[in-house]
Amino acid sequence: MFVGRQAEIDRIRAAAEQAYHGRPQVVFVEGPAGIGKSALVREALRPLSGWRHFSMALDEGHLHDAGSLLRHLMALRPEKVRGLTSKELVQVVVEEAESQTSPMVLKLANFDKADDASAAALLDAATAAQQGPLLAVLTARPSRRSTVARMAGFARTSSTGTFIELGP
Ligand SMILES: Nc1ncnc2c1ncn2[C@@H]1O[C@H](COP(=O)(O)OP(=O)(O)O)[C@@H](O)[C@H]1O
Ligand SMILES: [Mg+2]
Repeated sequence: MFVGRQAEIDRIRAAAEQAYHGRPQVVFVEGPAGIGKSALVREALRPLSGWRHFSMALDEGHLHDAGSLLRHLMALRPEKVRGLTSKELVQVVVEEAESQTSPMVLKLANFDKADDASAAALLDAATAAQQGPLLAVLTARPSRRSTVARMAGFARTSSTGTFIELGP
């Protein structure tokens, strides 16, 4: 049974509420292994049963495979992304996000294992996206990688971001 973390649950659900009303949100949950990131996210998102869910857990294989995360995210739209530059790809990601009509939550676990190219592109997309019922929930162990730290910084400082640090 899940216990505690009510303040964190409330912050994630507040972000979901914003997303539901068409303001795309990024939630970044940071903390060491076993601290309860996955459990928190699962509990916080439980009421979102009517949303479309896309979940992906990253691992070492993604870290060293440039563009792999983006390719997985865009796998449903292969015809749209073939032969695009990374800048064009970001635009496609933004258009996909902005054209969502039903609320969607995108859960990326172990975001500290995202490849640099994808992490940078997703940050650009998060910065550019103006509308769409999209909630991105990223979990990560603390990381010194700059692309990961920049996404955490976006969540920390943007009005459309939420940064949650889980400590022992
Ligand atoms: N708030 C909580 N209440 C009850 N059990 C929890 C809570 N947070 C974490 N746990 C349990 O602790 C273990 C590790 O949590 P997990 O979410 O997998 O950590 P992380 O994703 O940070 O590695 C799991 O068995 C999980 O069910
Ligand atoms: Mg986990």
